[in-house]
Amino acid sequence: MSGQAWWQRGVVYQIYPRSFADSNGDGVGDLRGILERVGYLAELGVDAVWISPIYPSPMADFGYDVSNYTDIHPLFGSLDDLRELVHRVHALGMKLILDFVPNHTSNEHPWFLEAKSSRTNEKRQFYLWQDAKPDGSPPNNWLSVFGGSAWTWDETTGQYYYHAFLPEQPDLNWRHPEVRRQMYAAMRFWLELGVDGFRVDVLWHLIKDAEWRDNPPNPDYRAGEPPYTTLLPAYSTDQPEVFEIVREMRRVVEEYDGRVLIGEIYLPISRLVSYYGAAGDGAHLPFNFQLIVLPWRASDIAAAVSEYEAALPPGAWPNWVLGNHDQARIATRIGLRQARVAAMLLLTLRGTPTLYYGDELGLRDVPILPEQYQDPQGKNIGLSRDPARTPMQWSAAHNAGFTTGRPWLPVADDYEHVNVERELADPDSMLSLYRRLIALRRSEPAFVAGHYRPIVAGGDIVAYTREHDGRRWLVALNLGGQPAELSLSALGAGGEIVVGTSRQRQGQRVAEQLALAGDDGVIVRLD
Ligand code: GLC
Repeated sequence: MSGQAWWQRGVVYQIYPRSFADSNGDGVGDLRGILERVGYLAELGVDAVWISPIYPSPMADFGYDVSNYTDIHPLFGSLDDLRELVHRVHALGMKLILDFVPNHTSNEHPWFLEAKSSRTNEKRQFYLWQDAKPDGSPPNNWLSVFGGSAWTWDETTGQYYYHAFLPEQPDLNWRHPEVRRQMYAAMRFWLELGVDGFRVDVLWHLIKDAEWRDNPPNPDYRAGEPPYTTLLPAYSTDQPEVFEIVREMRRVVEEYDGRVLIGEIYLPISRLVSYYGAAGDGAHLPFNFQLIVLPWRASDIAAAVSEYEAALPPGAWPNWVLGNHDQARIATRIGLRQARVAAMLLLTLRGTPTLYYGDELGLRDVPILPEQYQDPQGKNIGLSRDPARTPMQWSAAHNAGFTTGRPWLPVADDYEHVNVERELADPDSMLSLYRRLIALRRSEPAFVAGHYRPIVAGGDIVAYTREHDGRRWLVALNLGGQPAELSLSALGAGGEIVVGTSRQRQGQRVAEQLALAGDDGVIVRLD
């Protein structure tokens, strides 16, 4: 597998740092907490750790509102802690990826404080200011993802400023050369320190229409969906000029050896793949969220894999994501039994897999009462992301071993049974399944470098082969609850089940017909 870069070979693991491990008892996770747990990650077999933002921030959006791009929030620790973490992670053969939030700053960032001080301040143009319409209303109809208008009126200077998210997150003006220069300098600061790359927040948002045209109504809007989706963000996101910035970011990252540029992009496949860059000079990995946004149905999943494979530009490396801190957890979306099938899918498809912390334990969303919501999205529009951000469950100890203090979000009720310690000791646990799948992926080049060939199976089955250097593997997944069968005659071979979502299946021989129980998945080494 020497032909592949680490970010092609490896598995990425996302840590939401507030919720991973708390070393000082303040109820919020921190860098020293992560340091104490890196051994767990190495043993799980992941290759890279991406940490959600740890920069100084007023925490209006829990770190996605940055007030200083080149320091660490004291809540999480210090620059020295981060240096130590980079060192430890590298010593264990892993990589460290930081979250980079370039679309907006905090409203408490010194730039914004200056910008809003007067219309003539030299930082004014770092942000997006517009006059009111004659009737005093906002300059256009653009909506904030978190509800309401995307424009907030500034009394002092008598203009509106644009914010795709909270008013506390004013968008930067990426058409301004000095904004770019400063942000690239911040990237270099972390690259110099030794981090291995970035996951870039809302990359497709960076440039907005120069004429500020109104967004059109969304003809497919259905009642009950988030208010933001009543309009199509045709002019506020995914503008042609964004690619120049993506290319520039890629160049910054490439000033250093072996670093990666990952982009957070929620777009249909046909648009998503353009973020690889016209000449392979864009993001290494534009995050592919198909497994999150699609209904969990065999026909939809199989079609999406084919569409994605076909749409990838030459040389582009695929990737798949099962969960993150903005989405309901996979075990809640599709149930625990199917979550095992999903793990098998994620870790055997062609492309870099990204795991969300705790999904390897089968953590589920933790119900949280509206009056206890922390997440601004929950407070504003009722769609709280808190349930998927609860503390990591390490053991049956108090607070699941996450903190000795009072956790910032409640620990799930099931922590005495669902935790790392218990699951490590149980060969049938979700964690043991993840460990087997990751180990197989690491040991068998077919799963990284192999060809991917779909098998038309029909019904609830998703099936495909992976093949490399004469070794052929079949992956067969039953996305339904009823037993199903797959004929292997077209493959011209039988084989042996090497990993099953149910451990009992391991070692079984299969010949012409492969029988799958409901919610069953198997990986077969073909003869
Ligand atoms: C991204 C982050 C999300 C955040 C938003 C605004 O979507 O993943 O958590 O709220 O950007 O920064």
